[in-house]
Amino acid sequence: MQILIKGARVLDPGSIDEKKDVLIDGGKIAAILDPSDALPSGAVSSGALPPGADPQDTADMQVINAAGLVLVPGLMDIHVHLREPGHEYKETITSGLAAAAKGGFTAVCAMPNTVPVNDNAQVTRFILEKARLAKGARVYPVGAVSKGSAGTNLAEIQDMQQAGIKAVTDDGLPVANAQLMRRALEYCNGLSMPVFVHAEELSLVNNGAMNEGPAATFWGIKGIPNAAETVMVARDILLSQLTGAHVHFCHISCKESIAAIRSAKQQGIRVTCETAPHYFTLIDADVKDYDTNFKMNPPLRSKEDRDAVIQGLADGTIDAIASDHAPHSKEEKDLEFDQAAFGIVGLETSLPLSLHLVHSGALTLEELIRKMAKNPARILGINNDITPGSRADLTLIDLDEKITIDPAQFVSKSRNTPYGGMAVRGRAVCTMVGGQIVFSALKG
Ligand code: DOR
Ligand code: ZN
Ligand code: ZN
Repeated sequence: MQILIKGARVLDPGSIDEKKDVLIDGGKIAAILDPSDALPSGAVSSGALPPGADPQDTADMQVINAAGLVLVPGLMDIHVHLREPGHEYKETITSGLAAAAKGGFTAVCAMPNTVPVNDNAQVTRFILEKARLAKGARVYPVGAVSKGSAGTNLAEIQDMQQAGIKAVTDDGLPVANAQLMRRALEYCNGLSMPVFVHAEELSLVNNGAMNEGPAATFWGIKGIPNAAETVMVARDILLSQLTGAHVHFCHISCKESIAAIRSAKQQGIRVTCETAPHYFTLIDADVKDYDTNFKMNPPLRSKEDRDAVIQGLADGTIDAIASDHAPHSKEEKDLEFDQAAFGIVGLETSLPLSLHLVHSGALTLEELIRKMAKNPARILGINNDITPGSRADLTLIDLDEKITIDPAQFVSKSRNTPYGGMAVRGRAVCTMVGGQIVFSALKG
């Protein structure tokens, strides 16, 4: 079956930004055509498409009228907790990959803090097999750094790489032991894989539950200082410099970390980083009435930190936007603030929240697509281009549709979001993985 996407603004940062028709055949991009071009020979409906006519679908070709929409390389969310195996009541691979597809993502990285932890090839293969059956977004599993993410012995990293992991991390927990981190970096450098860093110095967190500052004092909640993050960012910049390995910092939330990463990049140290939409849309002063939907790790920071995150996105210090989709049940969230689980869902809100950066003029659309599609792929060492011969992993975006975020409509199994009721503009209207439509809200 062929698919013809007609009349979209085709935007692949660094290569194309033009109104084009895109023909998909056999799961791949077959041709990128000027809207007036005849279809290439071999395309089934060539004779049946008079110029200007809106062709009807035939048995062999589906035509998508994408006028007014933007076609971009498939969005990739490199930080997602799918919860399976072990916590299927929060999310399953199937529900998580459906939520990803609905959010416009053609691929996600699955964090290894499942039960059991993804610290061996058997768990990696289980995740990939479930994902294959799910028919949503693709999954790129991320393996653990240490066995059981216990921080003592390295996990079976090479075995997992042969099974399909694209990176390692003990996310949810820091790798507290610097020597183990050094060994992990040396080992992964030899395997050409990045190490994803959950930067947190637990002795400074000291059981805090929100950002240290006036808001925490007001609510009587124990605070977490910025330094709890930046101390570890600084350590792992130095270890990247020592080993030459690629360190990728997860969910960067504060100004000191961004300054450290900016300076490391200027020195040519091999670091990349991501932030999450909550760190550029919310601040600690938004935490109200002990609403645990505002509780995540790292916590929402000050206004100055949020502004530094936006600046870091604009100047290229922050490479990627990832959701840190962290589904939890109602029971785990409906608790005292300090007792509730850390984390919020993000797959179905990430793109609309991030598009706000474009509507407000903080980023161009091209820059945003770099951070949500191109750089995530680059960090993982995967191609994600709109060129003939590439696999057809594509997202169609309506930049202007006005929507109100409604957690009751989520296809994720969990509802823990602080964004319920918020008005946003723009969303994905069609998501295609390997030439298969895995989500569509197209009319007609
Ligand atoms: O908010 C968070 N939730 N931060 C983490 O580091 C872990 C994650 C989770 O697994 O729930
Ligand atoms: Zn984390
Ligand atoms: Zn995480």
